[in-house]
Amino acid sequence: MSRDSQRSAAWLCPTILGSTQVVGLIGWPIEHSVSPPMHNAAFRHLGLDWCYVPLPVRPEGLAEAISGLRALGLCGINATVPHKLALLPLMDELTPAARAIGAANTVIVGPDGLLGHNTDAEGFLRALREAGFGPEGCRALVLGAGGAARAVVYALATVGARVAIVNRTQARAERLARDLRQAGSGATLLAGPLDAATLAREGERAQLIVNTTPVGMWPQVERSPWPDNLPFPSQALCYDLIYNPRETRLMRQAQQAGARAVDGLGMLVHQGAEAFELWTGQPAPVQIMWQACTAVLGRERE
Ligand code: ATR
Repeated sequence: MSRDSQRSAAWLCPTILGSTQVVGLIGWPIEHSVSPPMHNAAFRHLGLDWCYVPLPVRPEGLAEAISGLRALGLCGINATVPHKLALLPLMDELTPAARAIGAANTVIVGPDGLLGHNTDAEGFLRALREAGFGPEGCRALVLGAGGAARAVVYALATVGARVAIVNRTQARAERLARDLRQAGSGATLLAGPLDAATLAREGERAQLIVNTTPVGMWPQVERSPWPDNLPFPSQALCYDLIYNPRETRLMRQAQQAGARAVDGLGMLVHQGAEAFELWTGQPAPVQIMWQACTAVLGRERE
C-alpha cells in the first residue's frame, strides 16, 4: 500500500464508539457513493465523534426507513436516487428550497420533527464561486430539465440570473420554468427544445452553460449533449454536473473552443458541505472533503 493510499484509508475508517452520533445516506443502489468517505474524512479531521453510514433502502422500504430515523437516534440523512422526490411527503417540514425544487436530499432530525432540505442548489452556487464565477445576475443556459436541473435552475433564480432551459422533451423544460415562477421566483426563465438552433441562439449570449443531463457520463464517455457541428461559445463557463469521468467530452469541446470548463465534483463536495454544517453546526473542512473524493474516485478508476 502506498503512503497516499494509507493516508486515505485512515480517512475512510472512522472510530465508532457508544457515544457516536450517526448520520447516513439512503439510496438504492449506494455502494459506489463517495459521500461516506467524504463525510467521515471531515469528521475525523475535526475530531468529531460522528460517523456517516451507507443505508441501502429499496424504494418500497422508504416510508418505513424514514419513520425509524428518530427512534434509532440518527441525527440526519442524505438521500440519493431514487428517493429525492418520494421523501417530500414523509417530512414534517420543508425548507423553501426543497419545496420549490420539489425534491429533498438532506433530512435534519430535529426536536420538532423531520426537516427536509435540498443542498444541491447551494452546493451548485458554492461550486461556481469556488471556480471563480460570480452567478449573480448572469445569463445562463441549462441543458436538461430533470431533478438535477430543478436544483440548478432554482439556485440560479435565487441569484437573479436569466436562465434559458433547454430539454430533449420541451414540455418538461416548460413545466420547470412554470413551477419556479409559481414558487415566486422573479427571475427570467425561458424554456425551449434541446436543438442546434436554440443552443446557438441562447449559447451566444450565455455567460454560463450547465449540463445537467447524464449524456457523457461513464461508461458512455464519447457522447456529448452539444452538437459536433456547433462551436461551443468561447465566452461562456462550461459547468458539467458529471464528475465521472472528471473530464467529459462536452468539457473538451468547450476547452477546444477557448472556454473554461469545470466538472461536477465541486457541486458534490459543496452539497455535502452544507449538509455537514446543518447537522453539526460547524464549518465543513471543504479541502479535506475534496481530497477524500478525489482519493476515492482516483482509486475507482484504477
Ligand atoms: P436527474 O435527477 O439526474 O436530473 P432525470 O430526472 O432522469 O435525472 O433527468 C435527466 C435529464 O437528462 C432530463 O432532462 C432528460 O431529458 P428528458 O426530459 O427528455 O428525458 C435528459 N436526458 C437524458 N438522456 C438524454 C439524452 N440521451 N439526450 C438528451 N437529454 C437526455
